[in-house]
Amino acid sequence: MKPESIAVIDFGSQYTQLIARRVREHNVHSLILGPGVTPDQLRESNIVGIILSGGPSSVYADNAPRCCDDILDMNVPVLGICYGMQIGCQILGGDVTPSATREFGRTQLDITNHAGILAHVSQKSTVWMSHGDVVNTLGDEFESLARTPTCPYAAVKHKTRPFVGLQFHPEVTHTPEGNMILRNFLYDICQCKGDWRLGDFLADTIEGIRSRIGSDERVICGLSGGVDSSVTAAILHEAIGDRLACIFVDNGLMRSGEIELVESTFRDHFKIDLRVARAADRFLTKLRGVTDPQKKRTIIGHEFIEVFKEESRSIPNAKYLAQGTLYPDVIESGHSVGGVAANIKLHHNVGGLPEKLGFELVEPLRELFKDEVRQLGEQLGLPHDMAWRHPFPGPGLAVRIMGEITPERLDILQRIDHIALEEITAAGWYPKIAQAFTVLLPISTVGVQGDDRSYQNQYVAALRCVETSDFMTADWVHVDYELLARISTRVINEVKEVNRFVYDISSKPPATIEWE
Ligand code: XMP
Repeated sequence: MKPESIAVIDFGSQYTQLIARRVREHNVHSLILGPGVTPDQLRESNIVGIILSGGPSSVYADNAPRCCDDILDMNVPVLGICYGMQIGCQILGGDVTPSATREFGRTQLDITNHAGILAHVSQKSTVWMSHGDVVNTLGDEFESLARTPTCPYAAVKHKTRPFVGLQFHPEVTHTPEGNMILRNFLYDICQCKGDWRLGDFLADTIEGIRSRIGSDERVICGLSGGVDSSVTAAILHEAIGDRLACIFVDNGLMRSGEIELVESTFRDHFKIDLRVARAADRFLTKLRGVTDPQKKRTIIGHEFIEVFKEESRSIPNAKYLAQGTLYPDVIESGHSVGGVAANIKLHHNVGGLPEKLGFELVEPLRELFKDEVRQLGEQLGLPHDMAWRHPFPGPGLAVRIMGEITPERLDILQRIDHIALEEITAAGWYPKIAQAFTVLLPISTVGVQGDDRSYQNQYVAALRCVETSDFMTADWVHVDYELLARISTRVINEVKEVNRFVYDISSKPPATIEWE
């Protein structure tokens, strides 16, 4: 029996995944589907409510994505958010026009009717807007529930059908009462049972793995030390014990202490059959003289596969490969119904394995978001710091050393990175940052040390700290000056090869998170 689910129909909003996660935070399962999804497909997925997401298009643009009109006739409640409200209103007879100015940011909502979706929300409440078009004329079929100073129909309801529309975004934290609004939709309007629990998911997944893997078969898991592969390994170990073998490829491009952490967690604590392939020399030899970021990625990706294949040959009866594929990866690679969210992910798979290695795949995290995976990690007994650690790219420090990678530069960056992360953690900033790391720039700048001028063999180091909900867009974090000062002083004093330290204050886009 499929769990009772809410379908989030994706019109290309940057917030689609956030909406789906918010729904799950209310203990209701959610699925992200493309606009092409049909009523039959929705029924098959046990959908009890539909959310139409926002999106970058104007409903009047050529090729503007539009859902199948029939889903509004299913007698299943529909919540349209921003573009989703405009699409819903347009299909049901409202009149949408471009607004004179784009409205972006916080605004005051003035509620005229608290019924249903706006129940228990303060009469005047702050909401987050981000739109160009507005619904201009409602028509007789709709009633208005709220307005803002610039938007006469900020929340609307159809008089006879279960359709409500919000011009603002209840899913973002900038709408402080957004959680209540989503709760109203899920529990009062859709009458959800709220019985989606991660613990149940875990028990079902373990059961599923046990019945799939034969008693004489083994599963290989490529461990990187990251959250996804670590949780995958912990689940598999819980399900099949010593029929799991893990391979960790030491490519020489890790942070300091990484191999020891993986060994102590998995070999010593979980007693997992962990094989560490010590291949640093192979990688560094292949990378000698290479400065182009894409070439670095290709070499590392290729070498990783070779080392992994060689190591896996020593594991008898290995039929399956466990991978930490997450729900966002599944959506992004276009597997969603209708597939509008299909895009991106190109270089992000570097450091992973190709599909055709001859193994059958086991992907226990395919339906989960990252924060759910972190929670599962803790339930499975992974150390807290490992469950909540920041992402680390497959090609490792190679894409954080600009230009050529040498053992000396790797050693310098490992020392810098260690200091930065130690200070960020000690200051309590680590959990407030999505990703923090340092970068080594092989350019010399002039400095003074004592009475001497320093220039030769001196590097610049940079710190990057970003906040983001999905890593597709990101902002730099306004960390304390005190913290920056401490890191800078320590790096320059303790790492003699660095005489200048800078903080990266660029957003993504146009910059990316990594420097290469
Ligand atoms: P960018 O730099 O594209 O990074 O803004 C977005 C996220 O992806 C990670 N990243 C990678 N992960 N292999 C990976 O496994 C890669 O080649 C790679 N490049 C970037 C990056 O750390 C950030 O979390």
